Amino acid sequence: MGTECKRKRKVSLFDVVDERVTAKVKTSTIINPWNGRPYSQGFHEILEKRKTLPVWHQKHEFLKALKENQTLILVGDTGSGKTTQIPQFVLEAVELESCDRTKKYMVGCTQPRRMAAMSVSRRVAEEMDVAIGEEVGYSIRFEDVSSTKTVLKYLTDGMLLREAMTDPLLERYKVIILDEAHERTLATDVLFGLLKEVLKNRSDLKLVVMSATLEAEKFQGYFSGAPLMEVPGRLHPVDIFYTQEPERDYLEAAIRTVVQIHLSEPPGDILVFLTGEEEIEDACRKITKEFGNMGDRPVGPVKVIPLYSTLPPAMQQKIFEPAPPPVTEGGPPGRKIVISTNIAETSLTIDGIVYVIDPGFAKQKLYNPRVRVESLLVSPISKASANQRSGRAGRTQPGKCFRLYTETSYNDLEPQTRPEIERSNLTNTFLTLKKLGIDDLVHFDFMDPPAPETLMRALEELNYLGALDDEGNLTKLGEIMSEFPLDPQMAKMLVVSPEFNCSNEILSVSAMLSVPNCFVRPREAQKAADEAKARFGHIDGDHLTLLNVYHAYKQNNEDPSWYYDNFVNHRALKSADNVRQQLARIMARLNLKLVSTDFNSRDYYINIRKAMLAGYFMQVAHWERTKGHYLTVKDNQVVHLHPSNCLDHKPEWVFYNEFVLTTRKFIRTVTCIRSEWIVDIAPHYYDLENFPSCEDSEAIRVLKKLYRKREKDKVESKSRR
Ligand code: CDP
Ligand code: MG
Repeated sequence: MGTECKRKRKVSLFDVVDERVTAKVKTSTIINPWNGRPYSQGFHEILEKRKTLPVWHQKHEFLKALKENQTLILVGDTGSGKTTQIPQFVLEAVELESCDRTKKYMVGCTQPRRMAAMSVSRRVAEEMDVAIGEEVGYSIRFEDVSSTKTVLKYLTDGMLLREAMTDPLLERYKVIILDEAHERTLATDVLFGLLKEVLKNRSDLKLVVMSATLEAEKFQGYFSGAPLMEVPGRLHPVDIFYTQEPERDYLEAAIRTVVQIHLSEPPGDILVFLTGEEEIEDACRKITKEFGNMGDRPVGPVKVIPLYSTLPPAMQQKIFEPAPPPVTEGGPPGRKIVISTNIAETSLTIDGIVYVIDPGFAKQKLYNPRVRVESLLVSPISKASANQRSGRAGRTQPGKCFRLYTETSYNDLEPQTRPEIERSNLTNTFLTLKKLGIDDLVHFDFMDPPAPETLMRALEELNYLGALDDEGNLTKLGEIMSEFPLDPQMAKMLVVSPEFNCSNEILSVSAMLSVPNCFVRPREAQKAADEAKARFGHIDGDHLTLLNVYHAYKQNNEDPSWYYDNFVNHRALKSADNVRQQLARIMARLNLKLVSTDFNSRDYYINIRKAMLAGYFMQVAHWERTKGHYLTVKDNQVVHLHPSNCLDHKPEWVFYNEFVLTTRKFIRTVTCIRSEWIVDIAPHYYDLENFPSCEDSEAIRVLKKLYRKREKDKVESKSRR
């Protein structure tokens, strides 16, 4: 694709790529050109399957369009082979085009979801008959499974953004594919704007934007009329059923529907959309139980499979297993029942689904800049999502979709899901953009610009954290913070932790906060699990409890029974350990010292708590004694300690890691702090002018008093001098 190459050759290899590749496959039926090894048994079988995918019929047309354009938009129904095939087509073309064989050209394909990046890259490695991590790899936060051999890399959109920090022109890539563009995640939206600039500076780089059929014209408008290619789907008709009345309990209704389908419908697998891990595990248990209690009724065997992002990879693979066969020939059909988050909506295609059950909800991020609260909330999906979900039923044959809501409710749904940029706190994104050298964030070319208030909030928070100066320029501290693949608050606490003489411990806490919950609480042993957790409990709060768990893990990790006896998740802890090592390497690279306060010192835990507050001072809540609830300071949200907390009392002041909105407003993972620390560590945030003037909470009275005392002490000490 380089101009140099073109000049040397009269005819671009793109023109013959299809024939060449076909020929390559024909002549090298024994040897895999990617790694020089003989093809395995499965290769040709998969190849035949691949050739039936809709995108294969347009391979030639696609490569031609890619050759002629720098940017290309490709839309096609889910399951048409975009994610697995297009990167391989591109790769073959790049490989044949490249004039410098010694130089590795990479093709990068972004995925909004970590799990999709892992799962799809594994599939593609299998299709290319290479080992994962070699020619085909993936990269997600804290897990890079790629090598110098890698020519095709699936990576989360967030990771590509991080790569841009060290490689602003993304020079290791020849073609970048932004997949699942319709999801409009924050990182993908930022990449849109960024790549538009990079393309101007790199005429040899190409961009393919791939999307399910939603909003394709919008992309076209944004990419100044880049050609749009459509892959016709091969959807079978799907009958849609609505409920007559709204369902009061959608989980119960979903389970009831699964049972009905299994007992009365012809063969075909079932896909149920629920909102999160807990709900999904609960549903799996209940469904399995229902079918266990059928008595003498002839019921076909079922395989109930959960699907959510924190599932271990081996479990994720289970969704691709076939349904169990009937017990007796001609007996009732066996069925696979997949209970999934909206990851199965477009990112992963499960073959064999004929029935879809859609309760109409998903966990969605929401952000209110006025009170600076970002939370995940179970909320109604959009019409576009509902249609994507029902489409999953008609992939292989005519299907049925059971919407557990009324037709009127469907008509009232929003047409499209709002882009994440309109529903997120942008502090993290802005730090990244600043680091990328984009100074004018207000005029950055966003496809949908964020609300001005959100924008101001993000700049303000970065300023309070010391990452931006008053002019909005990245400070030295901000530079260092941006090196960590963490939220700015966490990055800040890590960066300042050596000053508090506890960077070793803060590293461990950060690692523990960056992995899925390590506490296991099986339904049948909740009491024992709670008791086990309490043994790790630290009187001053959850962060220190996590630190205790990590320390205990380091002492006992060789003993397999330790995990079982203490109700902790081996995988989560192992991954925390790995994350810790990676963060420690970044610390070392930045010359941040790894130090600890003597464990026997009175200050051991105090220093850790102070260092954490230095990052999280904007997330402080005060116990309002007379009212019997916590109030977040400055934003005045009435909140409660999340039931998972391990405190045995209600400390007057706490800082929290997370705001959780369910039936109530909760703060989760909290640690007790002292009021003096607040004014010492964050006087610029908690100064007198900075409080809402009409505010009259106990918290503010206390802080104002402390602040005045502090000012007075300062004056006195000056006059003494
Ligand atoms: O991206 P798009 O939704 O267009 O399709 P895809 O993800 O490329 O999937 C195409 C086909 O590959 C699916 O229909 C599956 O049959 C197969 N596939 C698979 O078997 N295992 C995977 N992990 C991913 C895809
Ligand atoms: Mg896809």
